[in-house]
Amino acid sequence: MKANTAKTEIFDEWIRTRFVELNSALEDLYFAQADRANVAGVGEDLKVSLEQEGQALIAALLEEGNTDQGFDKAFDLLGNVGLYMAACRRHEITEPSRETKSPLLEASALSLQIGASIGVTPRFATAHLTTHNRAVNGRYKRFTDLPAEKLFVEFNTRGILAYKRAADALVKIQPLGISHPLAHDLMNAALVALQQVIESNKCLFEQLDAERFFQCVRPYYKPYRVGSQIYRGANAGDFAGINVIDLLLGLCQGNDPSYGQLLVDKFLFMMPEDQQILRDCMRRTSLLDYFLQASEQHHEPWYQANLKLFLELCQVHGETATQHHNQLVDKYNTAPSAQMPEQYLDKLTASGPPLPVLLASLEKLRDRRTAAQRTDIPTRYHDIQRLTASLEKIDDRKP
Ligand code: HEM
Repeated sequence: MKANTAKTEIFDEWIRTRFVELNSALEDLYFAQADRANVAGVGEDLKVSLEQEGQALIAALLEEGNTDQGFDKAFDLLGNVGLYMAACRRHEITEPSRETKSPLLEASALSLQIGASIGVTPRFATAHLTTHNRAVNGRYKRFTDLPAEKLFVEFNTRGILAYKRAADALVKIQPLGISHPLAHDLMNAALVALQQVIESNKCLFEQLDAERFFQCVRPYYKPYRVGSQIYRGANAGDFAGINVIDLLLGLCQGNDPSYGQLLVDKFLFMMPEDQQILRDCMRRTSLLDYFLQASEQHHEPWYQANLKLFLELCQVHGETATQHHNQLVDKYNTAPSAQMPEQYLDKLTASGPPLPVLLASLEKLRDRRTAAQRTDIPTRYHDIQRLTASLEKIDDRKP
């Protein structure tokens, strides 16, 4: 296999410079209109440049043949091709409901080849813009130079990294068991990390401009076709950590059909190492179930101290989900969608389903994570009540 470093680097350089200029110029034109959601007939010369310049660079890479230089480079190149395809979708150079296969033939071919060979979805995923987005001289890859996009990407990355820290700590409790004195330290570490998610989400909520986000950032996260198939948009949830926390705490369960379906659907949108971690967690017993099994030891100091912390952890995890749904999704998706002219409504969500369907599924996730009392979906409401009742009134015991 021949290395093609030079061409990959030229394409990367284009993505980091000219691509950003073209997208930003188009965003300015759209945003200056009375109908900011309109893309048709605006900046046509810029769109042609974007499509053709990107196509020429990708065609050269495809022609050169197998581009294997290891996982990291392949993943990075897939991301660059994906950013190009997502931008073409955003500017309606392609439109999945108009076409039966992507007109971006070379980009599709290269994406399918790389995606299949490294075991990920053949499109750009969240990791490309967040946790695996290399900065060159302080600047990481973005679609535009808009401050709203920068803020969104940085806070998404911060949130994801904090969730991952919480997940890592919880995974480490598994071999030690809930009565181990160090389980207390690890739960504390997870708690601190989840509190950082809350803090980061709060800053995002206060600082991100809703109109700019909705009109100029979110559209890059729409579904697009690769070859003949439509792949859903990327979202900040495409990493294992959040589900590792759900499963290891026990608030969500792999044998709950709709939660299980959600996991199955997101596997290929995650990095292969995340896929592995999540598969492993799906086989584990949750902390909640371990505490229920240990109820006979409820007078033990370790039980009281660790259960108290565990319940706090569940409460804070629920709080992050409530914050995501009631604040972020509401302010940046639901509210602006309500103002949207009718002709655009069917293309609103990143994943594809109509907005009410998407909102109902996010609400169910929130309610599982808060162990809310619901009869239509399994939640741990009664189990959390049982455990809470087993807490003794004397506080602050240490194991
Ligand atoms: C402006 C800010 C945000 C908005 C508007 C937003 C909106 C959304 C929407 C609409 C979805 C469903 C995706 C779809 O299927 O279309 C989603 C999923 C998700 N988002 Fe966000 N999000 C934001 C920021 C964040 C941040 C900072 C995090 C933290 C890591 C996050 C974590 C998640 C997770 C984990 C999911 C997957 C569903 C779940 O397990 O809850 N989001 N988000």
